[in-house]
Amino acid sequence: MSFPKDFLWGAATASYQIEGGWREGGKGPSIWDDLTHERRGFILDGSSGDEACDHYHRFREDVALMAGLGIRNYRFSVSWPRILPEGTGRVNPEGIRFYSDLVDCLLEHGIRPFVTLYHWDLPRGIYQRGAWLNEEMPEWFAAYVREVALALGDRVKDFLTINEPQCVIGLGYVSCEQAPAVKLPARDIVRMSHILMKCHGRAVQVLRETVPGVRVGYAPCSGPVLPASEKPEDVEAARRAYFAVPDDPERFTWSPAWFSDPVMLGGYPQDALSAFGHLLPEGWEKDLAVIHQRLDWYTQNIYNGNLTVRAADNARGYEEVPYPVGGERTLMGWPVTPDALYWGPKFLYERYRTPILISENGMSCHDWVFPDGRVHDPARIDYLRRYLSALSRAVADDTDVRGYFCWSLLDNFEWKFGYTQRFGLVHVDYATQKRTPKDSALWYKEIMETNGAGL
Ligand code: FCB
Repeated sequence: MSFPKDFLWGAATASYQIEGGWREGGKGPSIWDDLTHERRGFILDGSSGDEACDHYHRFREDVALMAGLGIRNYRFSVSWPRILPEGTGRVNPEGIRFYSDLVDCLLEHGIRPFVTLYHWDLPRGIYQRGAWLNEEMPEWFAAYVREVALALGDRVKDFLTINEPQCVIGLGYVSCEQAPAVKLPARDIVRMSHILMKCHGRAVQVLRETVPGVRVGYAPCSGPVLPASEKPEDVEAARRAYFAVPDDPERFTWSPAWFSDPVMLGGYPQDALSAFGHLLPEGWEKDLAVIHQRLDWYTQNIYNGNLTVRAADNARGYEEVPYPVGGERTLMGWPVTPDALYWGPKFLYERYRTPILISENGMSCHDWVFPDGRVHDPARIDYLRRYLSALSRAVADDTDVRGYFCWSLLDNFEWKFGYTQRFGLVHVDYATQKRTPKDSALWYKEIMETNGAGL
């Protein structure tokens, strides 16, 4: 197994999922605070991120732990309402200080920070003003990004703009599985997607103006479509199915092309325009110049293949091959399809010709502390080994992959699943906040140290 020299091995987290301290240090409320406090029954175990992993108070201990586990690259997100409690206007110096101290601590431990600017904790004040529906949103986002860039840009050079636009819009406003969980019609969904991509573009512009030597990525997600065999016609069928934008208001936002072609190629794909072009906001064509900014990486969160297809003689040119009954699934119920890290990066690199970073990948399982005081998680080791082997095959096939961030450093608040899904390399006992590195963390340390040779 080989990975390029300087391959970026790391781990990832997000502010709302680990920080806690929800109204400390001058932080304003976010849509996740409101959803967890006010929509009774929405979160599976009735919990919230009020305390989460208490990382807000324990970040020094967590950074030291990370360093001990050999983690050299750390992706975390900044909470917009910690920086701007109302979303716009007044800057909160304590919020700035928290992230500034975190960055100093990371650098003191030799860990390179990768900052995600938006990982879902939207300020309440922005939501109440229409958020992604409001044409002022790109300027609100740009103003927030400028504050982060001014505060951290002397030490942080790596930024990702928006985590999983598919989930922000699709889970937030179509299937309503995430905050704000408000169902909106296709016209609004199209408008929001477009404005979200404009936010991304403005963020890139602001970062390039403000941070000398900055490197920027965008962090959408996808479930790659896998070919049933390596026959060229099956591969072509998978490629076509992966990038197709379905003419279905419940599903079109999941297509990687919908949220990436405008950003990466400067235009909407033809099938999207035929199905939804008439719903785009007025003047959308001229916005493409803002949306389409050069990026240093095309970053992607990939957990599993969405679908397997084979070529077929029908109108679409392919048919679906069902996932085997009783096939491996994680505790989330997600299928275990290591080849997603072969075909996904390969197809994405062919289309977008930009170095790839895998910004999230990992799994949840039934982890607990055994009587020997350790957390044995052989399934996670098996999962990571198989997925990383597939990724290394993509590298060997000339797919330009620059890094891999395991989701997640710590067990944490898994959105609507509360604390029932453990994705961490490190186990967290939420009653005591005790951290216990799982067997997989020790295994991953060796993989990182040997640049994948230990696979
Ligand atoms: C991704 C999210 C991340 C986490 C993982 C399991 O969709 O970006 O916050 O919830 O899934």
